[in-house]
Amino acid sequence: KSLKIIEVKSEIGAGTRGASLGVDAIKIAALDYGSRFFKKHACVEVPNENHLLLESSGSAYAKRISGILTMTERLSDMVRDTLNEKHFPVVLGGDHSCAAGTIAGIKAAYPKSRLGLIWIDAHADIHSPYTTPSGNMHGMPLAISLDEDNLNSKVNQLDQETINYWYQLKNVGNIAPKIKYEDLVMISVRDTEKPEDYLLRKNNVKMFSTAEVRKRGVERVVIETMMYLDHCDIILLSFDVDALDPTSSRGTGTPVTGGLTEREAGIMLSRMVTNPKVCCFEIVEVNPTLDRENQMAEHAFEILVKVTNAFRND
Ligand code: ARG
Ligand code: MN
Ligand code: MN
Ligand code: MN
Repeated sequence: KSLKIIEVKSEIGAGTRGASLGVDAIKIAALDYGSRFFKKHACVEVPNENHLLLESSGSAYAKRISGILTMTERLSDMVRDTLNEKHFPVVLGGDHSCAAGTIAGIKAAYPKSRLGLIWIDAHADIHSPYTTPSGNMHGMPLAISLDEDNLNSKVNQLDQETINYWYQLKNVGNIAPKIKYEDLVMISVRDTEKPEDYLLRKNNVKMFSTAEVRKRGVERVVIETMMYLDHCDIILLSFDVDALDPTSSRGTGTPVTGGLTEREAGIMLSRMVTNPKVCCFEIVEVNPTLDRENQMAEHAFEILVKVTNAFRND
């Protein structure tokens, strides 16, 4: 299987500007390393006219949601086509709202398959517009994919337009929910809000903390994750670079202490991708405008190379 890189230069889901430059920052890192990675692999870009960035509409609890819906549909189509062509999609973000599109695309290609999701992130990204503290849609892709409103924790009063867009977003591809709570594993999640904690606890979501990764070892956590998802047919690896500890780089919109080292993340992801059920990998939230000397993009590129080598050697 050959890789196909899908570039998602969108940042409208984040509260801080600059994540759309993450893709090019990773390409610059590749140039600095003298790597031919981006020449070797096919690349496609999700079209993203300026109006999507500048003029998309939304509310305080779902900022720029009309643009998010458009990007989700476009990315979904590209991921679906890539899978149907029998390529392995590598999605490069962009902010993490793209995960909703990636998941929608996988479900569009394999509607009957049970999709497992490995979520490596400092955040759970399981807010809905009813619970979000920020209105930033990169905090919502899991709720979108789980068809989760979390009305029990409702704190925000939504207008009808927001409700309509939210409904459309959850129902992209006319499959909702696209994933189930029991098909989800979270690793290194450590910055959540109360409404998120409520859902994670209520639904008994499988979680591995950074401390557990260290105590039990990366190998063990990978094995247990794969065993936990054994009943799934296919698996997506979604890697938000803010899972990494900010001591090595602060080049991401929402850094949180207590994260993984690049080494831990690199070993973990390259072990996971050797599992033949893994059908897609995404890496998101590199923001070079917040960084020094492009460090985060370099880490992301190193991890990308490790993962793709492990995949190709399988
Ligand atoms: N939970 C916070 C919020 O909803 C932070 C989300 C950060 N998400 C991310 N993909 N970096 O605003
Ligand atoms: Mn995230
Ligand atoms: Mn995050
Ligand atoms: Mn927080």
